[in-house]
Amino acid sequence: MGKRVLRPGGLELTQRLLSRLQIGVNDRVVEFAPGLGVTARLTLARKPASYTAVERDASAADEVRRYLSGPEQQCIVGSAEETGLPDTSASVVYGEAMLSMQPASTKSRIVSEAARLLAPGGKYGIHELCLVPDEVDPQVADAIAEELSGEIHVGVRPLTLKEWRELLGAAGLKVVSEHRAPMRLLEPVRLIKDEGLLRAVRFVWNVARHAEARRRVGAMRKVFRRYRDHLCAIALIATKP
Ligand SMILES: C[S@@+](CC[C@H](N)C(=O)[O-])C[C@H]1O[C@@H](n2cnc3c(N)ncnc32)[C@H](O)[C@@H]1O
Repeated sequence: MGKRVLRPGGLELTQRLLSRLQIGVNDRVVEFAPGLGVTARLTLARKPASYTAVERDASAADEVRRYLSGPEQQCIVGSAEETGLPDTSASVVYGEAMLSMQPASTKSRIVSEAARLLAPGGKYGIHELCLVPDEVDPQVADAIAEELSGEIHVGVRPLTLKEWRELLGAAGLKVVSEHRAPMRLLEPVRLIKDEGLLRAVRFVWNVARHAEARRRVGAMRKVFRRYRDHLCAIALIATKP
């Protein structure tokens, strides 16, 4: 439908994640699931020594490749669970809006893969949906997972902050920074902030003209609104000792 920014905390939280990752000219960066390359462009503007994206969807990978140049920049079609990239070859790994929708075992495999790719001292950044508070009623957590999965057609399983930290910790990573933002993915103000006025209007127009898209976007926004007290966006950075 033309929406390019699909992460829960929007571009604002992405900017905070990137500034905390402090990507510079000596960094070897791996991005998991770049989608349409919005964050890739921000990263490339920092001129890292190398940039490798791993994207499962071939047409999204083609989009990302439009922003790449030279032998040190590549986008491979593959899974973040098993990238085929060498051990300790990255100083920074990050991925946005790509763990929340995976089942628990896949979440663990992706985080372990990030840890494997990182050189000691390297940083892993994530930007995901978060359940609040840590003691959230399990029935509410199940209802959110079920309703979001019903609309997005995948097993969306957001974690609490404590669970995200445990997931990273289990792969031997140490969380060193955390930022929170409200979950406003489909709200008008966020839409304009993330996409710009023109793209936002185009998105609304596209959705309005397609009955099924209108139903799904409406249903998703309803879930986000109904559970707004229990959902937020989180950006975490963990380091490999
Ligand atoms: C919700 S979008 C997020 C895209 C982008 N990171 C963003 O925040 O706007 C999910 C993207 O993740 C990709 N993806 C999901 N699971 C993946 C995996 N295990 N490995 C590589 N890419 C994956 C999908 O193909 C899709 O492009």
